[in-house]
Amino acid sequence: TAVAASMAVGVSAEGDLITIGYAQVGHESDWRTANTKNYEDVFSEENGYELSLIDCDNDNAKQLEAVRNFITQGMDYIVIAPIQSAGWDTVLQEAQDAGIPVIIADREIEADASMYDAWVGTAPYDEGVTAGNWLAEQLDGAEAKILQIEGSVGASAAIGRTDGFAEVMAEHSEWELLDSQSGDFTQDGGQAVMESFIKTYEGQFNVVVCQNDNEAYGAMDAMDAAGITYGVGGDVILISYDATHDGLQYTLDGKINLDVECNPIQAETVKGVIEQMEAGEDFEATTLITDEAFCAPGIESEFATTMTEEILAGRAY
Ligand code: AHR
Repeated sequence: TAVAASMAVGVSAEGDLITIGYAQVGHESDWRTANTKNYEDVFSEENGYELSLIDCDNDNAKQLEAVRNFITQGMDYIVIAPIQSAGWDTVLQEAQDAGIPVIIADREIEADASMYDAWVGTAPYDEGVTAGNWLAEQLDGAEAKILQIEGSVGASAAIGRTDGFAEVMAEHSEWELLDSQSGDFTQDGGQAVMESFIKTYEGQFNVVVCQNDNEAYGAMDAMDAAGITYGVGGDVILISYDATHDGLQYTLDGKINLDVECNPIQAETVKGVIEQMEAGEDFEATTLITDEAFCAPGIESEFATTMTEEILAGRAY
């Protein structure tokens, strides 16, 4: 991992709370709720922090405004979970001009690494590759007619999962992607897209890939209503991402075949970087939060751990 020298300025005087502005994506998913709670727990007054968390409601303009307000308020640190990967240069320059360290968290941005101080997040491209590899292993040469419900348009979590899965798909001429539409990482979005897919492709598909658990719940409701069976022993293989508690419960129940993890518990790592900056030490410029994948009981895989009650019991979010 790259290590950078601290450029931290605005370090609080001893005894003062360190102010953190967190421009959060929104509240679109259970994953996001868990991530917000994690920041609130870790960046507590007890731990020496004053956290201003702005829920940007999945609205890019609102997120840019939130960051600009943090700059005006002179926050000690700004953390951004970027809704969109593009369009960050101007506001990052403004933060740099104000001397406020910026940590990009959760997702990635299309900006030169010199425009921010550190990055902490997951690897959606690898998650997509894992999903693809698992599917190839399970199908073992059989045909796949695939429907994909993507995350929010322009979000690196969606772009990465789409690209990683496509990379494996390109190696399989026996697979066909029938359609791929955004469900905006929400349950309602997943349900609406699945309902429209069913209208167009009923009887023609055998794989549904949802880019997060909430979309998968919506897709399950739509398939239930249409009498389409999915999961272990069903007509449709259902793949999801996130591996939140409820997603893993469905996986344990055999309703979701594969759930590829994306870990929302990232605040402690961000805090570690900030502590290094505060101490004027070298700090981790890039920290990857690693992910696993879980498949339903009865499925053996080189690419995923088979779900058990114990794994579920250990999943707090
Ligand atoms: O950026 C992480 C993604 O954003 C999660 O997969 C999704 O649930 C969330 O909304």
